[in-house]
Amino acid sequence: MKIVVTGASGFLGREVCLAALRRGHELLAIGGTHLPSIPNVHRTMHLDLTIPGRLEAVMLDEFPQAVINCAALPTIHDCDRNPDLADKLNTEVPRRMAQLAFHVGAKLVHLSTDMVFDGEVGRYQHTDQPRPLSRYGLTKAAGEVEVLKYGREHAAVIRTTLLNGNHPRGVRGLHERLFMDWSAGKTTALFTDEIRQPVGLTNLADVTVELCERPNLSGVYHWAGADALSRYEIGVRIAEHFGLDSDKFIKASLRSELPDLAARPRDLSLQLHPLAGKLRTPVQAFAEQLGELRIPRGCEEWYEKETGRKVVRLLEKGIDF
Ligand SMILES: NC(=O)c1ccc[n+]([C@@H]2O[C@H](COP(=O)([O-])OP(=O)(O)OC[C@H]3O[C@@H](n4cnc5c(N)ncnc54)[C@H](OP(=O)(O)O)[C@@H]3O)[C@@H](O)[C@H]2O)c1
Repeated sequence: MKIVVTGASGFLGREVCLAALRRGHELLAIGGTHLPSIPNVHRTMHLDLTIPGRLEAVMLDEFPQAVINCAALPTIHDCDRNPDLADKLNTEVPRRMAQLAFHVGAKLVHLSTDMVFDGEVGRYQHTDQPRPLSRYGLTKAAGEVEVLKYGREHAAVIRTTLLNGNHPRGVRGLHERLFMDWSAGKTTALFTDEIRQPVGLTNLADVTVELCERPNLSGVYHWAGADALSRYEIGVRIAEHFGLDSDKFIKASLRSELPDLAARPRDLSLQLHPLAGKLRTPVQAFAEQLGELRIPRGCEEWYEKETGRKVVRLLEKGIDF
């Protein structure tokens, strides 16, 4: 199948491209300002999706069978700083993409977020009404509506959550951000009363590609890992997995210690039914996700000193991890 991946230079998009290649698809990987760097990829390009006409030209040239949209402005902070860009990238671009996908008869798989919910109750079902607290959540919730407007049966929206995996430069994954603190001599304060349900990066990438392969699966779905945990538990389990003393590096804290909680949902746990029962890709437990994590780049020397363990780098997926 010919698949176009947008946002292919991003954290998730890159992994989606690797999954598409692994599963034998023909791929066009599109970055924004950066050209995607993906070993053995067929074709790459970069273009600004907010400029009308660019994406249209590519789609009409390519006539792909599926499009996976990982392009976004994906943080609360960036959306608050650039509200116009947030509207464009998170809402208008998905609308144009859905129109185009419908026009060429391609399936659109669009990435959304658990941040469309307010976190008051947790265990959200895919049918629950979004109630975002931030501009990020608002623009993503609006993007979902736009995507499904052009034929619900041609598009799948995946609401997902904290990405747990390895970034080539060691700067984006959950454990990588913790390692950055710890190797700089800092203790990380993590909430015991804020719940998230991290998803394995490669597992989520497989799900997005499997959704392209399954034309009968469409509409809004939730995908995350199997375990809803507090941020504190997540940090402790990561530290212990790497043989680090969690008491030394993590301090338990409460949400009430933060001056402004307005945009922070408390419990974003998700129910994965009905997608979990329909896919071949299994839901991954947090313990399994931990098994895929590597010592982040640049932290090797600190880690060896701290634990006395030797870091061995493997050549994986064509890049030196
Ligand atoms: N990260 C998370 O924990 C998380 C959690 C839940 C949901 N999600 C969702 O997952 C998706 C991917 O997130 P991510 O963390 O992988 O994002 P990311 O690493 O920030 O990647 C964003 C991608 O969008 C591209 N992009 C930005 N502006 C563009 C433009 N004007 N034209 C074309 N492309 C542009 C970027 O390209 P350049 O860098 O080349 O400019 C990059 O490839 C998003 O929909 C996000 O809402 C993420």
